[in-house]
Amino acid sequence: MDFVKFGIIGCGIASMYHVLAFKNVPNPKLKFVAAYDVNEKALTNFAKKHKATPYNSLEGLLHSDIDAVLILLPHYLHAPVTKAAAEAGKHVLCEKPMACTLEECDEMIAATKKAGVKFMIAENHRFLPAHKLIKDLVERDFIGDIFLGRTYEGAYDDPNNFLDPNIWHFTYDKGGGGVVADQGVHKFSLLNWLIGEVDSAQCWLGKAFDSPPNKGEDNGIILLRYKSGAMIDVVVTSTAIHPLNNTLELHGTKGTILEDHSWEKPVKILSSHKDAEKKGEFYSPLKEIEHGPYPKYYTISAYYEDTHFAECILNDTTPEFTPEQAKEAVAVVLLAYLSAKKGTIATIDELRIIAKKRETKSILEGLEKVTQKNYKNMRWR
Ligand SMILES: NC(=O)c1ccc[n+]([C@@H]2O[C@H](COP(=O)([O-])OP(=O)(O)OC[C@H]3O[C@@H](n4cnc5c(N)ncnc54)[C@H](O)[C@@H]3O)[C@@H](O)[C@H]2O)c1
Repeated sequence: MDFVKFGIIGCGIASMYHVLAFKNVPNPKLKFVAAYDVNEKALTNFAKKHKATPYNSLEGLLHSDIDAVLILLPHYLHAPVTKAAAEAGKHVLCEKPMACTLEECDEMIAATKKAGVKFMIAENHRFLPAHKLIKDLVERDFIGDIFLGRTYEGAYDDPNNFLDPNIWHFTYDKGGGGVVADQGVHKFSLLNWLIGEVDSAQCWLGKAFDSPPNKGEDNGIILLRYKSGAMIDVVVTSTAIHPLNNTLELHGTKGTILEDHSWEKPVKILSSHKDAEKKGEFYSPLKEIEHGPYPKYYTISAYYEDTHFAECILNDTTPEFTPEQAKEAVAVVLLAYLSAKKGTIATIDELRIIAKKRETKSILEGLEKVTQKNYKNMRWR
C-alpha cells in the first residue's frame, strides 16, 4: 500500500478541519477518496468540492476499496459506526470524545481488537506541536513535580446549537452532555498525558443560554485532583465571547509552563533546570514549533493526527494515543458529571464501581436538574 485511502463518514464542520489541513500541504501518505453522509446535500457538496466518491449508504462505503474510515459523526454514533467499520475490516480513526459512556468505549475497543484493525481517537490536542513541546519539557524535568495548574478552553458556539432541541450538539442522548463532554475531553486527554491518573473531581455546571431540557451545560468548572496530588482546574465554555482559544498553566517544583494558543509563540517557560535557555525569567523555547492562533492550530493538529494514523497503517505500528487513553478521558468526563450530580466530590473509585456494573449511562440521567440556570440572572441584549 503506497498511501491510505480514507472514507469520510460525516461531512459536517469537522470534515472541514481535516480536509483543510492537507489543502496547502498535500500528504502522499493519505487521501480522502470517498464520503458518506445521511444528509444528501452535505454529501454532494463535500464530494464535489473535494473530489471524493459519494456513497449514499454506510454499507456501500464500507464495502468499497477504502482502507480506513474517518468518523466525524454525532457522539452517540461513534460506537455503532466504529463497530460496523471494524467488522468490514477497515481501520478506524474516530473524532473525540470516544463515546458517551464507558460501556460504548469497551465495545469499540473489543470490536477493533477482534477485527485486528488499527483504531485511534482523533484527539487533536495530543498532536499539537505546542503540546508535544510541553510533554517533552515535562518529561525532561524542566518544571519538576507538578503540584498545581489551570486550563481553559473557550470555544464560542452558535447559540442555536444550544437553543434548538433538534440539533444533536450538546444533547444528553446524542452528544453525551454539554461542554464538559465536548470540550472538557480535550483537556482531560492532555492532562492525563502530562500528569497521570485522576483521583477525584468536583464539578459545577451552568447554563448561560436558556436552552431546552435535552441540552447540557454551556459552561463548566471542574477541579481535578490527580493521584500524584496535583490540583488542576479546568474551565470550559461555549458562551464566552472571544475567538476560540485554549490556555494551560502548570506549576512544578522547578518552574512554570504557560501556554496560550492566541500567542504566536504559544509556550513560555520559567525553569531552574540546568539546561534552561534563560535563568530566572520566562522565555519561549528556541525550538521552532508550528503554530498559529485559531483556526490555524486546528488544521495543524489535524494534519499531524491524520498523518500519524496513516503512518501506523502503512508501517504496521501502534497509534501513540491509545483507545484505552481515550477511554480514560471519557472516564474523567463522567467523573465530573457524577460529582455535579452528587453536589460534592466524586472519586474515580466510585466511578469504577458504576462502570463495573456497566451503568455509566445512568450518570447522564437527571444532569439537567443539577445544572445552574444562570440565564435567569442575565441579559444577553
Ligand atoms: N477536534 C475538534 O476540535 C473538533 C471540532 C469540531 C467537531 N469535532 C468532532 O467531530 C464530530 C462531528 O462534529 P461536527 O461538528 O462536524 O458535527 P456536524 O453536525 O457539523 O456534522 C455531523 C455530520 O454527520 C451527519 N450525520 C448525522 N447522522 C448521521 C448518520 N446516521 N449517518 C451518516 N451521517 C450522519 C450529519 O448530516 C452531519 O453532516 C464530533 O465528534 C465532534 O466532537 C471535533
